[in-house]
Amino acid sequence: MTAVTVRPRNEADLPAAAEVLVRVHDEDGYPVEGVDDPRAWLVSDALLIAFVATSGTNVVGHVGVSRPGPGDDAAALWANHPEHDGNAVAVLGRLFVDPRTRGEQVGERLVRAAMNHAGEHDLRLVLDVMTKDRAAIRLYERLGWTRVGEAQHHFGAGESIPALCFVAPLPAVTT
Ligand SMILES: CC(C)(COP(=O)(O)OP(=O)(O)OC[C@H]1O[C@@H](n2cnc3c(N)ncnc32)[C@H](O)[C@@H]1OP(=O)(O)O)[C@@H](O)C(=O)NCCC(=O)NCCS
Repeated sequence: MTAVTVRPRNEADLPAAAEVLVRVHDEDGYPVEGVDDPRAWLVSDALLIAFVATSGTNVVGHVGVSRPGPGDDAAALWANHPEHDGNAVAVLGRLFVDPRTRGEQVGERLVRAAMNHAGEHDLRLVLDVMTKDRAAIRLYERLGWTRVGEAQHHFGAGESIPALCFVAPLPAVTT
């Protein structure tokens, strides 16, 4: 098995990441809105950084960290949460791992890369995850994320699907 590396995404990674995304959609129905234009789904003005997991020359996973937008349910729920600490917020999203490479902690390493980036930039991470995406929910809970509420993920022509919103744990304080 080739070792997996997690590193910041660059422009040249996009076609391979898009191919993986299409496979993930076929397998898991993620993202629910479909992947007619996978590249566009991976690139957005709100994106602060994205990471890829690579195995040799293959992209096997991806995660993004973005500025929250006006309709971001997780950011809104966290802003009104009693434990809200006033820190600036960023949104973890676009997380997926190639169905051929599941269960090898690639997802965990990608989420940890996003969490480390957020910690280094004094950002508190939030996210929403569709209730159906149980492996992802299990991963976030295993890494100490806390549920802050529920939302509906709207897509397509007026369709919606239930989602859960989470906030990341505060970075561990080292003395
Ligand atoms: C969520 C996802 C990124 C996890 O990737 P991964 O590399 O398998 O992650 P990990 O190996 O760190 O395992 C995370 C959890 O996935 C589940 N899992 C493990 N092996 C699995 C497998 N072969 N198939 C499916 N799920 C598996 C387990 O519940 C595991 O948690 P556990 O080890 O505590 O039991 C991946 O399942 C995925 O791409 N899912 C579809 C897209 C998605 O739901 N994205 C989240 C959007 S918010």
